[in-house]
Amino acid sequence: MHYAEITGWGKCVPPARISNQDIATVVDTSDEWISSRTGIKARHVSHVSTAELATVAAQRALDCAGIDAKDLDLVLVATCTPSTVVANTASEVQQRLGATGAAACDSNAACSGFLYALQMATAQIQAGMIKRAVVIAAERMSWYINWARRDSAVLFGDGAGAVVLEATEQALGLLASKSGCDSSDRSILHIENFGSNINKYEAIGGSELHFVGPEIFKRAVKGMSGACDDVLNQAQLSLDDIDVLVPHQANLRIIQAIQQRLKVEDDKVMVNIDEYGNTSAATIAIALCEAVERGMIKPGANIMSAAFGAGLTWAASYIKWGQRVTPVRQSSAELPPCPQTGLELIADAVAACQK
Ligand code: UT7
Repeated sequence: MHYAEITGWGKCVPPARISNQDIATVVDTSDEWISSRTGIKARHVSHVSTAELATVAAQRALDCAGIDAKDLDLVLVATCTPSTVVANTASEVQQRLGATGAAACDSNAACSGFLYALQMATAQIQAGMIKRAVVIAAERMSWYINWARRDSAVLFGDGAGAVVLEATEQALGLLASKSGCDSSDRSILHIENFGSNINKYEAIGGSELHFVGPEIFKRAVKGMSGACDDVLNQAQLSLDDIDVLVPHQANLRIIQAIQQRLKVEDDKVMVNIDEYGNTSAATIAIALCEAVERGMIKPGANIMSAAFGAGLTWAASYIKWGQRVTPVRQSSAELPPCPQTGLELIADAVAACQK
């Protein structure tokens, strides 16, 4: 039996930051409302494309694993904000990395995208089809934002995270998983004016996010905690066996509700929504990377992760970490410098939305 160990991890968060105080100069909101309702204090906005964010996160993960891009068999990019659709974004990432021997594919399960992609790449390794993959979740959610709408403008941010998977005979990596989709409610979270359903010859409005927040909130808590229960049963583990919970970061109150349902202690739960907001598929990839950097993930750790997103997709995964929690080599991969502030970066979009 083959397994797919996570041997490298990396993230790329763009430098331009918009604090709650900053965003309150753009829409009618306050730090008090955003902090108390969501736990978000800031979000980062990107001056580069989704593919560039993905490439830096992937290169950092490759350096962390100590392997060369040429040795990859698969570049899989989970995103709902692709830089380009045809050619796919993964092909640009493959080119930028120099991963000339790898297949390159995008996948989209919105906020559940990283766990879905992790499951797909792991299955290919377990089936013996490939030996090495980089699974990247990269999002530029700021592209969808209508800066005149306070209900959604305050929630999202940009960023990317990546892991390298390598075949091993040891029982490591993704060992149990469950994913699904409650499509009867797919209308409560969607992007308007995007895709081949639109008539491209008619004047259309901007492609923006629509959602029914309180409904998604309830379904997210139920969906993610139910999926965690399923995965624990599948892996024949109890919650006491779990060392770290890495949940999707959409709202601190959702995370706390799941934590309460599962009865997990505070110090086992990875939270970074305060700094990044909701980066859709990238939240878990970034949070997993930061959980290692913070020392929460120790050698041999049992990790539970759960996500929920548009579709309405959901997924949970049990990951067994290996022995290494430090990078094989330091990475020099960097984004180009960003001379602008967060507010300067979004100024044109804000002006267009407020017309
Ligand atoms: O992944 C896609 C999006 N994610 C989610 O939807 C996550 C799940 N949902 C949530 O996290 C929460 O539902 C939200 C954070 C989106 C909203 O929190 P809520 O506690 O469910 O608020 P609400 O939508 O029920 O709105 C309460 C009030 C409303 O005012 P009234 O009608 O009570 O006068 C909103 O107009 O809060 C108002 N409001 C705001 N006020 C200040 C909505 N957004 C803002 C804002 N600043 N940014």
